Amino acid sequence: MEALNKDHRNQYALITGATSGIGYELAKLFASDGFNLILVARNEDRLQQVTNELKAAYSVEVTPKVKDLFKPGAAKEIYNEVKAMGITINVLVNDAGQGQWGPFLETDLERDIDIIQLNIIALLSLTKYFVRDMVVRNEGKILQLGSEAGTTPMPLLSVYAATKAFVLSFSAALANELQDTDVTVTVLLPGATDTDFFHKAQQEDTVTYRESKLAPPAEVARDGYEALMKGESKIISGAKTKMHVFMSDLAGTKGAARNARKLNEISDKENGRTEATHGASRAEREMVTEQTSSRDGDYKR
Ligand SMILES: NC(=O)c1ccc[n+]([C@@H]2O[C@H](COP(=O)([O-])OP(=O)(O)OC[C@H]3O[C@@H](n4cnc5c(N)ncnc54)[C@H](OP(=O)(O)O)[C@@H]3O)[C@@H](O)[C@H]2O)c1
Repeated sequence: MEALNKDHRNQYALITGATSGIGYELAKLFASDGFNLILVARNEDRLQQVTNELKAAYSVEVTPKVKDLFKPGAAKEIYNEVKAMGITINVLVNDAGQGQWGPFLETDLERDIDIIQLNIIALLSLTKYFVRDMVVRNEGKILQLGSEAGTTPMPLLSVYAATKAFVLSFSAALANELQDTDVTVTVLLPGATDTDFFHKAQQEDTVTYRESKLAPPAEVARDGYEALMKGESKIISGAKTKMHVFMSDLAGTKGAARNARKLNEISDKENGRTEATHGASRAEREMVTEQTSSRDGDYKR
């Protein structure tokens, strides 16, 4: 299939987390709109599969970049390597993010710090490097993956929710600082979405994953993409997520934490959901399972 929008022919979007879930669907939207892509993820085989798929489907340039954003120097390496290629990044999408389910007393400190590194430090660093160039050109767009979780304290997912609170606050503040330029920052707040996220976070036995209706990643990506293109500063994806955010505001901090906890408890429902239905996210899980021999969790450090 030919890319649709010739206006974006010489433009580049850099997307982290582009091999699964929401990031994969965003990559397809950018490619179908004619953007050339630089895709970042850790698993080289999966990255190559997605690269081949998008090149064949949309006739755009796709460059895979294998990087582990848990590693402190990775964001700078990406920036330097892109510069060395002589490429201008017109759109930065900070999608890669992870969580870890469990009581804070029991989760592993190194895993908590990895999540802060990925969800906050890598996002912040990539934003810092690329936004400066965008402001010099007075052109560019940034999409940050926040979450409904960033609007409410989440017992049993406490570190993850706190990182997403950072993403929301930071992105809204930066959007304001840039309001007199043609550079825009958009934060996308999805609710629970049908991806591999829950498996990496070992969250698959919870009420949310087993029992509730999850948003299709393609719909979430479409909401984010449209808001980004319009230069909106924030988009909450889906009516259910909007309602959750509204209810959480009404409930106050303590009440919102109590409500969120119920959704993160272990479900006793038999025959509930056990796996993602989204194809690219299932492919991601197969890769992780192949390398770790485990149905849940992330790649080993
Ligand atoms: N799913 C939800 O319910 C939900 C809701 C709200 C917000 N979000 C946010 O949406 C974003 C995307 O999540 P998703 O649900 O699409 O998850 P996903 O299906 O697990 O996809 C995660 C993507 O990020 C990459 N990634 C993970 N760790 C990485 C690392 N250390 N370095 C580089 N890349 C890494 C993965 O590829 P590799 O494994 O190959 O690295 C994959 O491409 C995240 O920021 C998440 O917090 C998700």
